Amino acid sequence: MPEVSPQNRLNELSAQEWLKFTKSWFVHNPPPRKKDEKLHPAKYPENMIAEFIKFFTKEGGIVFDPFLGTGSTLVAAHQTNRHGIGIELQEKYAKIARERLQVLESQLKLDAQGSALKAKQLVLQGNSNEIESLWEKYSLPQLDLVITSPPYGPMLRNKGLAAKGREDEGLDTHYSEDESDLGNAKSYDEFVQRLVDIFVAIKPKIKEGGYAVVVLQNYMEKEGFKMLAWDFAREMAKHYEFRGERIWCQDNKTLYPYGYRYSFVLNVHHHYCLIFRKSGQKII
Ligand SMILES: C[S@@+](CC[C@H](N)C(=O)[O-])C[C@H]1O[C@@H](n2cnc3c(N)ncnc32)[C@H](O)[C@@H]1O
Repeated sequence: MPEVSPQNRLNELSAQEWLKFTKSWFVHNPPPRKKDEKLHPAKYPENMIAEFIKFFTKEGGIVFDPFLGTGSTLVAAHQTNRHGIGIELQEKYAKIARERLQVLESQLKLDAQGSALKAKQLVLQGNSNEIESLWEKYSLPQLDLVITSPPYGPMLRNKGLAAKGREDEGLDTHYSEDESDLGNAKSYDEFVQRLVDIFVAIKPKIKEGGYAVVVLQNYMEKEGFKMLAWDFAREMAKHYEFRGERIWCQDNKTLYPYGYRYSFVLNVHHHYCLIFRKSGQKII
């Protein structure tokens, strides 16, 4: 076991593990998804999220995901022995999340070593636009870490080649028709504003000095290239301290011939894991 410094206030990593995590990019190729997880258009890999959780919290810490989807954040919280709370608007995805966690928890009962793992995971079907009332209704605690991948703007509405393939397989190409769904914001600017508003509402629920990690992408759409990660970071920096990004690269994705022979169109195979900190001085 690597040695952990007793002075480490943030996590339980060794010096070597700490250093490795501070590199500004990494390659992570998600394993193939299981059948039920595949229904959801944009799941992120739990093993990758577990690395973030291990850096930004200690065992027993509290992790929150306001856009839970199929529950990957809570699976990662379970794996790392942190408590997790997740909110998902669509019951069909919340149900997948609950089922995934039930399987893990039942495995734990069979595993004698698992008795040391006591962290609890809570999946709530709800609307993250209503943070204050959710906190009141469920008496939710203060958070050590918020980590999430929100809808990537109205991006899933772009019917590209990848979406066509999903449609042919009978899989979801967007989350819902629900107006509260951030993915259905009327415009890009409205989307960015609504997303920032949710994080402003979450901020008082985070412990002083706690972190928020938001996974986002820039993307191309008909009117032009959207600098979503950068636009969001700029707006968020008015409310949180922006601590920089870790760039998640994927090198096993299909390259599509977008724009071939007439214009440059990017195959976007990287995401920004944007890191923000709640600190007293930065509030405007
Ligand atoms: C990018 S996905 C999250 C995927 C998740 N990280 C996973 O691994 O499954 C974004 C999710 O946010 C949900 N969502 C959209 N608007 C929401 C809202 N207002 N409140 C809660 N969830 C919302 C969508 O239904 C979708 O499942």
